Formats: sequence, structure tokens, C-alpha cells
Amino acid sequence: MTEIQEFFDAAYRGTDRYWWRQAHRYSTDPDDHPASLMTQSILRWARQRPPGRALDIGSGEGTDAIRLALLGWQVEAVELSGIGAAKVRRFMREAGVEVAVHHTDIRDFAPAHAFDLVVCNGVLHYIEEKSAVCKQMQDMTAPGGMNAVSLWSTFSPVPRPHQVVPTFPDDEEGAVVGAYGRWRKVLLYMERIKQEAGHLDMDEHAHSFIKMIAEKPSTADESR
Ligand SMILES: C[S@@+](CC[C@H](N)C(=O)[O-])C[C@H]1O[C@@H](n2cnc3c(N)ncnc32)[C@H](O)[C@@H]1O
Repeated sequence: MTEIQEFFDAAYRGTDRYWWRQAHRYSTDPDDHPASLMTQSILRWARQRPPGRALDIGSGEGTDAIRLALLGWQVEAVELSGIGAAKVRRFMREAGVEVAVHHTDIRDFAPAHAFDLVVCNGVLHYIEEKSAVCKQMQDMTAPGGMNAVSLWSTFSPVPRPHQVVPTFPDDEEGAVVGAYGRWRKVLLYMERIKQEAGHLDMDEHAHSFIKMIAEKPSTADESR
């Protein structure tokens, strides 16, 4: 078992809801998520097209996945933590939706089909070799589909409470943004030194983020 897996197993075991503790966590109305431009943008995009297939990578307790399932999308979730994966299954049943949960490392995941939307929210800073995972996400996206990616940037140092496991933030114009050079950016912004509200088990701290939603070119030739 990896340190990352142990870290998240312990976090998810320690409390019923680690992430997304707000009451309307599953609301599919973008206006109910004013604190997250990323969530708002995903919902706006997903609501203006017929439901498709979505993959939530590093789904945690499954909030992004469940929201999309409530919109009628066929959703799969990949989660490294067994405790996290079990919570996605419990919370999806409580929400009355179906999410196909894969308890595995994203690097070992081979999908059976392409996805119209791949969400990777807060995961890539736990992975050193980001280019390979970006390529994997891009390859599993249908032409015209979207990738929504959020990760820590190197703009500010990794806060001390997080220095208990290896982490690998990326430069604001680093491997991740570079990998999407030819994709149309629906959203690309750098969130700098944002106070973290997610962890009740850590001292107060702040992170800097890269937030990106990008659309895959619709012909294979343009996609690289
Ligand atoms: C910061 S949490 C974000 C959870 C969720 N995406 C959310 O926004 O609520 C990062 C998650 O990524 C998972 N994770 C980290 N490395 C992973 C990997 N290589 N493959 C799959 N999941 C991974 C962790 O177990 C953890 O649940």
C-alpha cells in the first residue's frame, strides 16, 4: 500500500464526510457553488448537452461523480483509497444514483470506452510523472470531450500539514498546462494562496492551484 493510499484511508476513516461538507453538495445548480468556479463551469457545460459518459479520477468520497450522475450522466469513478471507494458506493446509494467505482490507481486503469468528460480534481499533485497521466486522460476522452483538472501549483510552498506524504505541485506553465497546448481552454486560471476550508484535521493553511477545463480537438490530427 502506498503512503498516499494510507494517508487518504486514514482521512476518510476519521470522519463521515471529509470533503464537501456543505448541505447542498450534490446540487446540480451552478449558482449553488459560488466558491468554486471550476464546479460551476463543469455543471454549466454538462447541463447544456445531452448526458454522456464521465470519469471522475481520484473521486475521493464521490461528490463530483454523484452530481454528474444526478444529471443523468453514466459515471465511473477511480479511487486509490479503499475507504474512499467504499464511501462513493455508500453515498451514491444514499443519493439514489449509480456510479461504477473502480478501486485502483489511475495509472493501472484501462477504460472500456471513451468519456465525454474526465474530471481530475485535486489528484495530480500526488503523482510525480504527470505527463503520462495527462496523456492517459486525453487518450480516454472522446473528440470534442472535456478534461477538468485542478492541482496545486508551485506558486506557494506545500503547506506544512501536507508535508507528511510526497507531493508534486506543478509550475503554472508546467507539464500539465503544456500537455493541453492544443486543446481549447474553456477555463484556465491560477488560484493563488487560497485559504483551505476542506480539512478539519489540519491547522489552517493555504494552497495555490492550477484550474483548467479544456476541450479535445474534434479531429484526431489536431489532438496532439
Ligand atoms: C484531494 S483528494 C480530492 C477528492 C475529490 N476529487 C474531491 O475533489 O472531492 C485526492 C484524491 O485522489 C486520490 N488519489 C491520489 N492518487 C491517486 C491515484 N494515483 N489514482 C487514483 N486516485 C488517487 C486520493 O486517494 C484522494 O481521494
